[in-house]
Amino acid sequence: MGHKVALSFEDGVTRFINVEPHETVADASYKARINIPLDCRDGACGTCKSFCESGKYDGGDYIDEALTDDEADAGYALPCQMRPLSDLVLQIPGTSEMAKTGIQEFTATIERLHWYADNTAGLTLSVGNRDQLHFLPGQYVNILVPGTDQERSYSFSSGPDERELRFLIRTAPNGAMTTYLKERAAVGDKLVLQGPVGSFFLRDIKRPVLLLAGGTGVAPQLSMLEKLASSGQQPAFPIHMAYGVTFDHDLVETEALEGYARSLEGFTFDAIVADKESNAPKKGYVTQHLLPEHLNGGDVDVYLCGPPAMVDAVRRYWAEAGIEPANFYYERFAVGVSSEQSAASVGAGA
Ligand code: FES
Repeated sequence: MGHKVALSFEDGVTRFINVEPHETVADASYKARINIPLDCRDGACGTCKSFCESGKYDGGDYIDEALTDDEADAGYALPCQMRPLSDLVLQIPGTSEMAKTGIQEFTATIERLHWYADNTAGLTLSVGNRDQLHFLPGQYVNILVPGTDQERSYSFSSGPDERELRFLIRTAPNGAMTTYLKERAAVGDKLVLQGPVGSFFLRDIKRPVLLLAGGTGVAPQLSMLEKLASSGQQPAFPIHMAYGVTFDHDLVETEALEGYARSLEGFTFDAIVADKESNAPKKGYVTQHLLPEHLNGGDVDVYLCGPPAMVDAVRRYWAEAGIEPANFYYERFAVGVSSEQSAASVGAGA
């Protein structure tokens, strides 16, 4: 039984390989015809040095010139030597094009189209070769809009281990996907997906986690929660979500969130509605409902998916509170013409 290793390239493309117990990551990449950067293959040159985002491994043998103790302690490893002891996520120093691989393409079928409200749709797809479509919770795919030359990016709201693929789609006036969904889409339609893509994904939980979602930005976070719930293990640290929307009808999947609050120890969430007329118990903006325990003095990993104004507001909030979170991963929606996209410009970073 091998381990699944996600190779995350600098251009946002992620490819997954299976690494058998006797193999190094470099051996398995070679077998999968993915040319990650390599030179000596002997732990001597450091060419393959990569950052391990998540998982456990045996680093193998190498010399200090290739990888120093400080680098190893910081999470760097040499794929030509490393053997996974669990599933891994590795940041590969190079683009997918350099590795002579690229984005994968899948044909999906519409199984369900559900309208939560006039401006928000839930799309459920199936893929025949589902076993070949791997993604990390939080990532997105590009969906080609049938009958057009346009594509839109949507984060999976389903968990990586679920058979069906689910997406939340916020509509935009005259948007290509909006027009397709409202006027032409039917169960059984075929859609082309390209991906997975993106560096906004759940890392190992090493400290309390704060999930901040704006509107349909809750989608990737639902995928993260589903992954945690299906792992069979309880999170070692508390996870709090602050989910902000403009109007009551923008709140979706609150039953799923309540389910996670029951099944995941230490998971709590607040649904916050900006509209002054709302009957919601919590009104205003997400930052108005963050408590000191949610920030944990800065020893917290923050994942934010929402519109650019929300990213900016949260950044200002950290600055004013004098708090620097240990890690701040975020993904902004695109604005303007493509505002119906749920995940377009990726900005994950510590
Ligand atoms: S290829 Fe030289 S250290 Fe890995």
